[in-house]
Amino acid sequence: MKALILVGGFGTRLRPLTFTKPKPLIELVDKPIIQRQIGALISIGVKEVILAVNTETEAIKNFVENIPEKKQVKITLSVEETPLGSGGPLALARKILWEKDEPETKPFFLLNSDVICDFPLEKMLIFHKKHQKEGTLLVTKVENPSKYGVVIHDDDGKVTRFVEKPTIYVGDEINAGVSILNLKVLNRIELRNLSMEREIFPKMAEEGQLFCFTINTFWMDIGQPLDYLRGVEMLLDFVQFPKMAKYENVCFDGEVFVGENVQIGEDSFIGPHVSIGDNVQIGCGVRLVNCVILSGSSINDFALVSNSIVGWDSLIGKWSRLENHCILGSSVGVADEVYLNDTIVLPNKQVSDSILNGKIIL
Ligand code: GDD
Ligand code: MG
Repeated sequence: MKALILVGGFGTRLRPLTFTKPKPLIELVDKPIIQRQIGALISIGVKEVILAVNTETEAIKNFVENIPEKKQVKITLSVEETPLGSGGPLALARKILWEKDEPETKPFFLLNSDVICDFPLEKMLIFHKKHQKEGTLLVTKVENPSKYGVVIHDDDGKVTRFVEKPTIYVGDEINAGVSILNLKVLNRIELRNLSMEREIFPKMAEEGQLFCFTINTFWMDIGQPLDYLRGVEMLLDFVQFPKMAKYENVCFDGEVFVGENVQIGEDSFIGPHVSIGDNVQIGCGVRLVNCVILSGSSINDFALVSNSIVGWDSLIGKWSRLENHCILGSSVGVADEVYLNDTIVLPNKQVSDSILNGKIIL
């Protein structure tokens, strides 16, 4: 079976992190989200993964060449000259997806590259084959459905309505960004910028050709900073990560991930829900809680980082405090004894004064 992952778009909602790396390549705990997806596809026997890209092609090509998973699956890049949305890339990759003489009932997976869950792909496939219609969407319940595509369905899972980003309340079950489609669906899609969610799924629902498979376990779209932090928290809670190195006189509380070649000074207190990337230096007496420290950064003695993201190769000075949804881009420097509250800092900036009231973008 084949799969197509939508890897395009500009990731603007995940700035300033996406100034440095495309969204699908940003580490989510131990590896980029797209690598986790490729692993899930391989584990159920997918033989070819098509990455539909329209920006940052070189970075994505480079990433693919360096992952161990490339030995287990054929990974093909399908490159758009101009963005084709969530549907057009399927038309562009039609020849790769639909080989000569293959029946129109043959299914393939379609994934958004910014969603995580426990990928119940095998169960979805069994369900898809049973109902024998053209498509199956993975569906989950959320508290804020207006950010997503809302799915209304009957008791058998047949989708009766699909409304993308509704402005009034329609329901709270949403398209989780993972689907199985029969090759026949490609006949509905033209080669142009086209939205599956606005043009194709509503039509398929109207025609009774779309079913949904509901999950009650963890799910998150990590396309916005706070959702990214929440996604990290969920992964730490639900996924078993390899045992980390031992640290003397450091207190760990709850779920914590520590990457390779990380130094942590004594009397530091780390956790819960902390993810520390490779080659990070943490001083003595540091407090980290509900936060992500991306690779190559340094957090100096007695600093505190809470509910925040520290971008790659950044430096937080002694006794500084980052609280309440600070998001630092890469190579940011925060001087000693600075307090940042709810502050976004662009890459390569130096911050030497405290910001108490938040929402300032430097
Ligand atoms: N190749 C390509 N070309 N990919 C694209 C393009 C494009 O022009 N535009 C966006 N993408 C990719 C993004 O990288 C992402 O993986 C996926 O398409 C969805 O785009 P988002 O921008 O993340 O959409 P969304 O989060 O607002 O909404 C979508 O995901 C929700 C679930 O997270 C929709 O599918 C909703 O219906 C769904 O609920
Ligand atoms: Mg998204």
